[in-house]
Amino acid sequence: MSQDGIRRAAGELLADPGQDGLITRGFLRGAGLPAASLGRRPVIGIANTWSELNPCNAGLRELAGHVKAGVRAAGGLPLEFPTISLGEAFVRPSTMYLRNLLAMDTEEMILASPVDGVVLLGGCDKTLPAQLMGAASAGKPALCLPAGPRPLSEWDGRPMTIDGLWPLLDERRAGRLDDDGWHRLEGCLSRGAGTCNVMGTATTMAVVAEVLGMALPGSALAPASSPARAALAEETGRAAVARTRAAVTPAQAITRVSLGNAFRVVCAVGGSTNALLHLQAIAGRLGARLDLAELRRISDGTPLLADVKPTGSRFLHELESAGGVPALMGRLAPLADLDTLAGDGRPWKEAAVTATTGTGCLATLDRPHAPPGTLRLLSGSLAPHGAVLKRSGADPALCRHRGRAVVFDGVDDLRARIDDPDLPVDETSVLVLRYAGPVGGPGMPEVGRLPVPARLLRRGVTDLVRVSDARMSGTATGTVVLHAAPEAAAGGPLALVRDGDWIELDAEESRIDLLVDPAELLRRRESWMPPRSPVRGYERLYREQVTQADEGCDFAFLRAAG
Ligand code: FES
Ligand code: MG
Repeated sequence: MSQDGIRRAAGELLADPGQDGLITRGFLRGAGLPAASLGRRPVIGIANTWSELNPCNAGLRELAGHVKAGVRAAGGLPLEFPTISLGEAFVRPSTMYLRNLLAMDTEEMILASPVDGVVLLGGCDKTLPAQLMGAASAGKPALCLPAGPRPLSEWDGRPMTIDGLWPLLDERRAGRLDDDGWHRLEGCLSRGAGTCNVMGTATTMAVVAEVLGMALPGSALAPASSPARAALAEETGRAAVARTRAAVTPAQAITRVSLGNAFRVVCAVGGSTNALLHLQAIAGRLGARLDLAELRRISDGTPLLADVKPTGSRFLHELESAGGVPALMGRLAPLADLDTLAGDGRPWKEAAVTATTGTGCLATLDRPHAPPGTLRLLSGSLAPHGAVLKRSGADPALCRHRGRAVVFDGVDDLRARIDDPDLPVDETSVLVLRYAGPVGGPGMPEVGRLPVPARLLRRGVTDLVRVSDARMSGTATGTVVLHAAPEAAAGGPLALVRDGDWIELDAEESRIDLLVDPAELLRRRESWMPPRSPVRGYERLYREQVTQADEGCDFAFLRAAG
């Protein structure tokens, strides 16, 4: 028997001459696997989030075939299995609400199954982070294969990426996009399988997986349905066998140092604010934590190197042509620690590329596209445990701003009143959305980029300071303060704001403050009531166990002891 008596190493189980081995081999032969392939070979599970409920991951079914070819070529036995899948476009109340469930599904299937190592096929925003969390906890050797970005769309004869959707939605609300345009937009929004084709959350997390040494160098950016991605899939299969034979566990790749490198690269590409939550959650699975001071130090020391949408002007394929993540690691070498592991088993100091083809997309440290501070980690009396602003996507004129609050309690209230002609709002107002955090949402829906009221849009206002305990799509921009912690539903100061209160954002000083006398706030707190908790099911587990944004919104009981 193995150590725990129940969970046995796959090789040991397949070679067992007794009852357990007979049953395992017998069922695999019944599934069409030849008896000769069931000897002592590394068994590589392929955790697949392909689903018709997740069009971004539609290419993963075919890619799994290429992974299997690679596993077999390297002498392993591939066994594909499904897990739940989370498509941003369909899942309600939010994919974040179910991220931890997918992480548990992944962890438990890896542990319960006769596999020695695993390839994780993910893409759409939460799938890769959940798989990384689950694999980190399971502890068996693992490598990711991201789905890759989908093809560009076209709008009015020009290439269009998904971030182009947000201004067009504003145009519609302002009455400037007619029915014909509205129907054309539906037809051109998504042109095929693959993840959002800008540096949104999905691509940011593919970049993170690569930097963490949990995906092959160069695997983040190749298009979804390209020969290059098929080749990467086969290579990932081979590399997973090698990693399994060498018994390299996720904990050897994901360290405090590599997590710091990953956050640094997120800053250098103007990546998604959601990456902060996922990095904290992944770190927590291994007993690590990135504290606010350390995140600030990294953000304040890392300039913007990649000019790529949604904060920049260029396309992902231009960043790929410039060398992608290996080239970014080369450029960041003076700042990052390149002794960490890359996905192909080499240290990054060998896998990083120093000679890059100059397309203008990738800048150098001494002549960056923008100074450090693309992701501003804020704190202050409105968010004592932190908040974040993607400064590279904000209006510089609003980054130091004092305005009066216009408060919305949850998404329904926001939708009901945002275009009310009597709403006391102008271009100096600060829009506040609360009860949309981890507990309040539940699951922090991506509603933090509150719409600019149609009345202001018609006057040409395109941005306002907005503050919430919610998240925002990685494909969006604006002067949007997100992830305020503690959230309103947990009794954070956001719960005490009233219409007309002064709020001050000072991105330079990394502050977000509620300018109300503390004695008055104490009085308001006396009448505050927490929202009621549901009595059963996953929602009860979620609301009771989810941690706040600054801790990554994982379930408290899933984190490793620090
Ligand atoms: Fe799936 Fe953006 S909606 S990656
Ligand atoms: Mg998203």
